[in-house]
Amino acid sequence: MGIFLRMCAIFLGIFAVFQFIPTYEKINPEIDSFLEIKAPKNVMQIFKRSCYDCHSNETRWPWYSDVAPMSWIVRRDVVNGRRALNFSEWENYDEEKKKELKKQIYRSVAFAMPIPQYLWTHPEAKLSDDDKLIIRKWASGGSGYMHYEVR
Ligand code: HEC
Repeated sequence: MGIFLRMCAIFLGIFAVFQFIPTYEKINPEIDSFLEIKAPKNVMQIFKRSCYDCHSNETRWPWYSDVAPMSWIVRRDVVNGRRALNFSEWENYDEEKKKELKKQIYRSVAFAMPIPQYLWTHPEAKLSDDDKLIIRKWASGGSGYMHYEVR
C-alpha cells in the first residue's frame, strides 16, 4: 500500500473512532414563553438571528452537530452559551442578574459575540453597526451608552 493510501486509512480510522467518544447530549429543553425575554421586535430579531443558537432553548442544530469532532465544539458552545445567558429562561434571573447580563450583552457585541468560528458557517449572523447600536440602546435603557465599572 502506498504511503498516501496508508495515511488515508489511518485518518479514516481515527475519524471513525472519534464518533464513539461521548459528548454532551443534544437537547432543546421545553420552551415556556412566559420565561422568554421580552424586548422590542427589532431587538428580538437580532437576538433570534445571531444569538439564539447558543443562548436559547431553540437551538437550530446543524448536521455537523452529529459528526465528531465538529459536534464536540458545537455542543460545548451551546452548553456554555446557555449557562452564561439563556434568553429562553430570562425571567428566571433576578433583577440584579438581568442588569449584569445587559452590561455583558452591551460589551459582548463589540466583537466577542457571536463567536468568530460560528460566523464562518453563519455569515448572516454577523452584527452590522446598526444591529450593535440597536442592541446597545436596548441594553443601556435608551441612551446607547452605558456606564460600568471596569474590572
Ligand atoms: C456559537 C455560539 C454562540 C453564539 C451564536 C453567541 N454566543 Fe454568546 N456565548 C457563547 C459561549 C460559548 C459563551 C460562554 C463563554 C465562556 O464561557 O467564557 C458566551 C457568552 C456570552 C455572554 C456572557 C459574557 C461573556 O462575554 O462571556 C454574553 C453576554 C453573550 N455571550 C452574548 C451574546 C450575544 C448578544 C450574541 C448574539 C449577538 C451571542 N452571544 C451569540 C456562545 C455564543
